[in-house]
Amino acid sequence: MQLTLQSPYDMHLHLRDTPMLEAVAKYTARYFSGALVMPNLNPPVDCLDLALAYKERILKACGDSTFTPLMSLYLTEKLDRAQLKMAKEAGIQFIKLYPKGATTGSESGVSAILAPKVLEVLEVAQDLGVILSIHGESNGFVMEREAEFHSIFAELATTFPRLKIIFEHLSDHRSIALVEKYDNLFATLTLHHITLSLDDVIGGALNPHCFCKPILKTPKDRDALLQVALSAHSKFSFGSDSAPHLQANKECAKGAAGIFSAPLLLPALAEIFDAHHRLENLESFVAHNAQRIYHLPKTDKIVRLTKKSFKVADSIGGDSIRSVVPLFAGRTFSWDYEC
Ligand code: NCD
Ligand code: ZN
Repeated sequence: MQLTLQSPYDMHLHLRDTPMLEAVAKYTARYFSGALVMPNLNPPVDCLDLALAYKERILKACGDSTFTPLMSLYLTEKLDRAQLKMAKEAGIQFIKLYPKGATTGSESGVSAILAPKVLEVLEVAQDLGVILSIHGESNGFVMEREAEFHSIFAELATTFPRLKIIFEHLSDHRSIALVEKYDNLFATLTLHHITLSLDDVIGGALNPHCFCKPILKTPKDRDALLQVALSAHSKFSFGSDSAPHLQANKECAKGAAGIFSAPLLLPALAEIFDAHHRLENLESFVAHNAQRIYHLPKTDKIVRLTKKSFKVADSIGGDSIRSVVPLFAGRTFSWDYEC
């Protein structure tokens, strides 16, 4: 049994920088036409020059001319009208808003999202047709953070009706109705939020490799999000939020948030869609929806998957990067890439 996917996109990806970049880029570059690359480096990618230089490093690390890194600018207090205009003219279509302190690499984020200075930048983004991607979490109780952020999405979606806003990595079933309510609000779904719950993080022995922000939630949330993905709901695209950290930085007292899923994304998705008899919807979920929502080209990159067993590595790494443990390390899936 075989499956072909034409021109898939990963609309939320962390590639980090040298040397991690060299170790992880190939997993995405080989199988996706493009990916929206997150700007939460240290220092953040918050101006055109940094974004263009980072793009060059990514292209070099990928060594695959069929892959396009879609660059985003980190929305810091520094970003102003002139910088954003210049970035758009140079082809940058995305800005990423992190509430300050919400997640890994969000120290330079925005502390008052509805402050006049931020709204001014968003107005410019609306006029330029730049897409706003948001990590939507408050600083409240961890299981309520996403729901507590809904009022900000509602306010932004109504204040800027022509601004395309992406609610990143949905984790709470209550967010689905919010995305459906506003014409200019869209969302991404990760592999981990549609397949796992908080039990996988703390239900047995603590599993730091399933620890991410937003935190995995209840089985009810997981199942509702899975149904959205399986139906290839037209407002939701696939965004892995693959976020590699060194094993040593996950398995320690200050365990970093982020799940590294890049090496297994499409085989794992094929297995889930197959198990639910929805294989026919997988291409819409990973390719068509992103092409339509973000106006991305359908390239002639064809990814072939076949029904044969594929074992996820226990860890990846080499000389310069010691170990990074992927999601589902050591597990065998029944779908694999056809080489
Ligand atoms: C991401 C990271 O490690 O950069 N971590 C995560 O838990 N998802 C940041 C993010 O997207 O929140
Ligand atoms: Zn992320």
